[in-house]
Amino acid sequence: MELYFVTGNRHKFEEAKFLITELEPKIKLEMLGEVGKLEIQADNLEEIVLFAAENLNRQLKVNFFVEDAGLFIRALNGFPGPFSSYVYRTLGCKGILKLMENIEDRYAEFRSVIALGWGGVIRIFRGTVRGKISSEERGSYGFGFDPIFIPEGSNKTFAEMTIEEKNRHSHRAKAVKLMVDFIKTVM
Ligand code: IMP
Repeated sequence: MELYFVTGNRHKFEEAKFLITELEPKIKLEMLGEVGKLEIQADNLEEIVLFAAENLNRQLKVNFFVEDAGLFIRALNGFPGPFSSYVYRTLGCKGILKLMENIEDRYAEFRSVIALGWGGVIRIFRGTVRGKISSEERGSYGFGFDPIFIPEGSNKTFAEMTIEEKNRHSHRAKAVKLMVDFIKTVM
């Protein structure tokens, strides 16, 4: 049986694929570009994934999931949060480091919300990783804000980690693992 990850982001797909291997060969993960995925701008991640999943649920006759993530920086009152994608495109890692100049409180967290459409029913899974914003960009793996985020319990940024290492900490890995646990109970 196929499970489709509806995303245009190959990095996200690769991260999820590592964690879904335990469902193979019964379930095979495929990437579906964001055809037909409607994205609203809202101030919480749940609203964004639910809106996308409900639309896809009407169009697709297969099992699928969508994911939305964001970086929430405490000293900036949770900015960029659900606007992370826009802020990454406009300010980038350098812009965030500039905003954080001379700010002592470096605490930040990544949050991920997955909406799974399984047998026509939508379920939500969440994951969070606590950490801090580094003082400079480090590493070349990964994507987005990976070069400036150091998860708790590590000295490396996400961009200095392999996918397996990032998956030991990441928000997305936590949400995907919860989804995998659920799928195990119904497959
Ligand atoms: P999206 O809307 O879920 O694609 O994510 C919003 C933005 O958050 C992305 O464009 C990235 O800049 C950032 N982001 C989300 N997840 C991660 C991650 O795992 N590492 C680094 N940046 C991320």
